[in-house]
Amino acid sequence: MPITNPRLRKVEPLDYFSRAKGGERALLIEPHAPGADCRQTEAEFAELARSAGAEVVWQLLARVEKPNPRYYIGSGKVEQIAALCVEKQIDVVLVNRSLSPVQERNLEAACHCRVVDRTGLILDIFAQRARSHEGKLQVELAQLRHLATRLVRGWTHLERQRGGAIGLRGPGETQLEIDRRLLSERVKILEGRLQKVTVQRSQARRQRERGKLPVVTLVGYTNAGKSTLFNALTGADVVVADQLFATLDPTLRKLGGLASGPALIADTVGFVRDLPHDLVAAFRATLAEVCDADLLLHVIDAADPERCQRIVEVNQVLAEIGADALPQILIYNKIDLIDGASVGSVGVDSDQQTRVRVSASTGLGLDLLRTAISQDLNHAHWHGDIKLPLSAGRLRSRLFAAGVVDTESAEEDGWKMAIDGPESRIVPLFGLPDGDGEWLRACLKSVSAAAR
Ligand code: GTP
Repeated sequence: MPITNPRLRKVEPLDYFSRAKGGERALLIEPHAPGADCRQTEAEFAELARSAGAEVVWQLLARVEKPNPRYYIGSGKVEQIAALCVEKQIDVVLVNRSLSPVQERNLEAACHCRVVDRTGLILDIFAQRARSHEGKLQVELAQLRHLATRLVRGWTHLERQRGGAIGLRGPGETQLEIDRRLLSERVKILEGRLQKVTVQRSQARRQRERGKLPVVTLVGYTNAGKSTLFNALTGADVVVADQLFATLDPTLRKLGGLASGPALIADTVGFVRDLPHDLVAAFRATLAEVCDADLLLHVIDAADPERCQRIVEVNQVLAEIGADALPQILIYNKIDLIDGASVGSVGVDSDQQTRVRVSASTGLGLDLLRTAISQDLNHAHWHGDIKLPLSAGRLRSRLFAAGVVDTESAEEDGWKMAIDGPESRIVPLFGLPDGDGEWLRACLKSVSAAAR
């Protein structure tokens, strides 16, 4: 079939993730189950595409009863997309699903246009937003791993023998083999570097722990106003943008003005539904800040009609990274956008969660938020030295999972441990079966935050 799209660019393998440059014309495809209402996911996907810098030219729904192994969507729809690509002079087709490499390639061949799936798009946005050394390494690694699955036979332009590239090739290697080898070498280098950075980060964390400053971490759906709140509470100058994922790396500052004494506050990457699993894994180190927190400040855009759903989605990601048992304050932000809403009211609902209404941009309600944070951090800590026999491996791993082991030394007949943790983490352990919980309660002592 002749190539008729005048804007067509050849798809080079390592150009695959080339950033959507300002104004790249995008056609968005929203696959949906028959009868499903996908208006909201469609709107969110358009927002993601704009965050990547694309110009959304057209959006198309594609009814999918059962994914087509060749294209994911039906072949009739593929013809329609191919025609639209020519008519609307499309540069890139964005599909709101994770596609298999084969589906992506088939779609590219049929539409004569670059095709990027949801994972690729989110990776692209992450690549643009990562600021710290660690964040950049994590994104590049996630991109290369994603790309590795796409380097398969069928990229015919890759399989040609090429001249040049002295010193880069072994005898008889095809371009495909070279790409694979370079890719896996790069992955190894990045993994090594990342490991170093992660060790440095965890050392810094341990130092902080030794200093015993409590850590509160901002979490929330992307664009909820976390960075604005972070800046308002600390006077820091973190990027605030009306874009998804404006913040990618955690930033840590001292939080003063609390009756409970100074604390540290961390801002983190915004969450989004269906965060690709590759990315959840890749950002585990970044999100480790979340797991280490004493208290989570869950920021919600109070003016968002989908806020209840967003709360559920954020809690799902927290569960995925093992941070769902941490205490949370729910912060309803952007209250200035809601007519007649009372600002700053603090309430504890039947679910025992504190709720505070604030406006991070006008500063309203922040005093009450500080009070709520102080009250939460003021809860007692439990500590004590214990000796576990070798047979208590299960209890030992529960203590580590709860993050309450301060130090540990191995002895011939077991482990000596110094336990220290906030009430919210220790008390649930008192319910452990087989007498473990009761034994632990007898070994530990409670101290109020003020006495520490
Ligand atoms: P990510 O980095 O994507 O996770 O976003 P974020 O949650 O850090 O949001 P950010 O602070 O970047 O704010 C997103 C947008 O909401 C910006 O345009 C802010 O100016 C706006 N915003 C934040 N807080 C308020 C508020 O209290 N009221 C109003 N009207 N707008 C706000």
